Amino acid sequence: MAEQMRAIEITEAGGPEVLQLCTRPVPQPGHGQVVIRVAYAGVNRPDALQRAGSYAPPPGASDLPGLEASGEVVAVGEGVSWPLVGDAVCALLPGGGYAEYVATPAAHCLPVPNGLGLKEAACLPETYFTVWTNVFERGGLQAGERFLVHGGSSGIGTTAIQLAHQFGARVFATAGTAEKCAACVDLGAERAIDYKQEDFVEVLRAEGGANLILDMVGGDYLPRNVRALDDDGRLVQIAFLQGPKVALNFAQVMMRRLTITGSTLRPQSDLAKARIADALRQKVWPLLASGVIAPVMDSEYPLEDAAGAHTRMESSGHIGKIVLKIE
Ligand SMILES: NC(=O)c1ccc[n+]([C@@H]2O[C@H](COP(=O)([O-])OP(=O)(O)OC[C@H]3O[C@@H](n4cnc5c(N)ncnc54)[C@H](OP(=O)(O)O)[C@@H]3O)[C@@H](O)[C@H]2O)c1
Repeated sequence: MAEQMRAIEITEAGGPEVLQLCTRPVPQPGHGQVVIRVAYAGVNRPDALQRAGSYAPPPGASDLPGLEASGEVVAVGEGVSWPLVGDAVCALLPGGGYAEYVATPAAHCLPVPNGLGLKEAACLPETYFTVWTNVFERGGLQAGERFLVHGGSSGIGTTAIQLAHQFGARVFATAGTAEKCAACVDLGAERAIDYKQEDFVEVLRAEGGANLILDMVGGDYLPRNVRALDDDGRLVQIAFLQGPKVALNFAQVMMRRLTITGSTLRPQSDLAKARIADALRQKVWPLLASGVIAPVMDSEYPLEDAAGAHTRMESSGHIGKIVLKIE
């Protein structure tokens, strides 16, 4: 294994131009870890937040951006029984995916699903871990329930629509253009709502209200989400693209027995993430292998042009996932 590698570092908090190519030592596997020679790295909105200085890596994590990758295992630490050197995997990362090599807990690796390439596999972990734990575990989505996801064309949204549809929910999604709405319907949404043309509250109230909402927007969506929920409904917050502070009448939460909750994946313990990986392997990886669900691929950029990938993401012109090619 080489001693030095190419990587993209965040030179200072700022716009996409602060993402610069650098040389770093190749990481070594700690106890329970593997080192992956990265083929592709998925690009996620939290990477852009980290670059802008508003989402610091948790203690002990690499300062390099990149929360998911695919590639070949090239070294394993003590106590690892799977994966082995030579195995092709995709993995959730504590950071450091925008690089030729990355270390991560073995328990956060998953096999590349049959029928998918390394490029598609790189785009699975961050959104599938996030959607599984927030929609099915925390949100408790059940077959037959009305599920609303905002940002339906995002990496998270395209994953949530497909999974909720496969598990028997009635899916509603919001998105900002007619083209994005059409993509949401193609993925299994019963109704896509162009939020610039229609009020999602009215659409959901006409259906009896949402049983579960997955939201990344926040701001004035918070009181509107409360109005859009049915009695006993649940709201799961995974980001606040429009800000976390708002006036909210909590009497509605009490009178209609609503639950407002949320979570972020990255600071959770290695054990918690390993448990999510186990659930995905059992319940979701067979769906990927059978082809009934698949990551929605938007565009590919070379590692050197990570700035271009972030510019694309922040333009919000994309539908689905953006990926960096490393090799
Ligand atoms: N909590 C967690 O553990 C966790 C993990 C991963 C990601 N996330 C969050 O989930 C969200 C989606 O992540 P992603 O990687 O899938 O990102 P993404 O593909 O860039 O999706 C963001 C989407 O949100 C929509 N949007 C609505 N209001 C917006 C606003 N005010 N500003 C910007 N975009 C707005 C945009 O589509 P429209 O054109 O339809 O507006 C955009 O496509 C992000 O906020 C991310 O931070 C949370």
